[in-house]
Amino acid sequence: MTTVRNLNVDGEAALLRAAMVQELRDSGAITSESVVKAVATVPRHLFAVGEPLKTAYAANQALVVKRNQDGDALSSLSATHIQVVMLEQAEIEPGMRVLEIGSGGYNAALVAELVGDAGTVVSVDIDADIVARARTCLETAGYSQVKVVQADADTGVPQYAPFDRIIVTAGAWDIPSAWLDQLSERGRLVVPLRLRGITRSIAFDRSGDGLVSDSYRLCGFVPMQGAGSYVERLITVADGIGLRVDDQRQDFDVTALAAAARSPRLEVWSGATFDLPDELELFLATSTPEMVMLHGSKQLVDQGVFALSVTRGVPALVNGGSFAYRTKRPNEETGGFESGVLAHGPEAKAVAARYVELLRQWASEHQRRGAARIQYRPMPAGTAEPSPGIVAKRLGAVEISWS
Ligand SMILES: C[S@@+](CC[C@H](N)C(=O)[O-])C[C@H]1O[C@@H](n2cnc3c(N)ncnc32)[C@H](O)[C@@H]1O
Repeated sequence: MTTVRNLNVDGEAALLRAAMVQELRDSGAITSESVVKAVATVPRHLFAVGEPLKTAYAANQALVVKRNQDGDALSSLSATHIQVVMLEQAEIEPGMRVLEIGSGGYNAALVAELVGDAGTVVSVDIDADIVARARTCLETAGYSQVKVVQADADTGVPQYAPFDRIIVTAGAWDIPSAWLDQLSERGRLVVPLRLRGITRSIAFDRSGDGLVSDSYRLCGFVPMQGAGSYVERLITVADGIGLRVDDQRQDFDVTALAAAARSPRLEVWSGATFDLPDELELFLATSTPEMVMLHGSKQLVDQGVFALSVTRGVPALVNGGSFAYRTKRPNEETGGFESGVLAHGPEAKAVAARYVELLRQWASEHQRRGAARIQYRPMPAGTAEPSPGIVAKRLGAVEISWS
């Protein structure tokens, strides 16, 4: 009886898995045959314990595995969509030694398929419960060769270093020196890095003492815990209005900004096409140190105070008691959209003009996928001066240039 039921489950899982692979191929998330084969092989449902098969094989569904007392996710089985994007960025080959930071089991099993019998997979997690769960799932699915280690990945896993690939599956704010030290000479580090309130999965290769990347993709992850954890400043301007800020040195005139939000808004249109929003967001968020992420509630959108873009966070330029943020409107001639700016406060005109200039600059010079080059240079804290394209971190600085 048990055998019959398992056969049915396995059969249905195989069908759903094949459909998921097709969907990921069609969307362009998977581009290589090796990743197709890995996803088509690993039984994801065995890592999504207690979930319906359909949920386990929904390509864009992340499954929360553990939450803290406030209900925030501490660990999740990431969506297959983002896992395969990162595996494609990593370009893993048979025989490689790979470190996965943040365990769950499923992604490590995919990596095990990619490196094959001659390769090594090490997965590290800070949380004992997650380590135990990952070990059990990997054992059940037939991947007991994966070494699951409990440690704070801030110091890497020196006992198994060096690694040809390090794939980080928790949101990092900086790059600990251990990751650089434990990466082989021609190694690659794929890391979801937080930059001025937005996250991009960046595939870095070594370049001198630092790292360089031409490959970055939109993503979201549970935050890094332990020594490398970082709490971003969220400045409450008023009920339902917040500024997410990277640089601890910035001060804001909250009272003036709250008054500005309630004052009539100035609307300025750029005449430039609005396209590739994730690329534009990276450009804007890192284009000048004065850029912050503005978050506003749906309630304020419904009241006509803000445009819808604020509900998910939008780069905003703040100048004293004035601010401006990006918006868009349909362009009937092209069938696409035009970008524009909404500004509030006594200096609304000046702030809007500066913002519109950035929108036009991006549209005329950089509006294509992959135009950014991202470098990371280790340097003592406080050395990197905030300037356009430079995002200072604790242990180094991220420099973004656009071609
Ligand atoms: C998104 S989950 C990992 C998903 C997993 N790779 C998978 O196959 O789906 C992120 C994990 O990172 C872990 N984590 C957070 N900070 C860490 C740290 N400093 N060192 C090691 N693990 C950490 C969390 O405990 C959590 O389990």
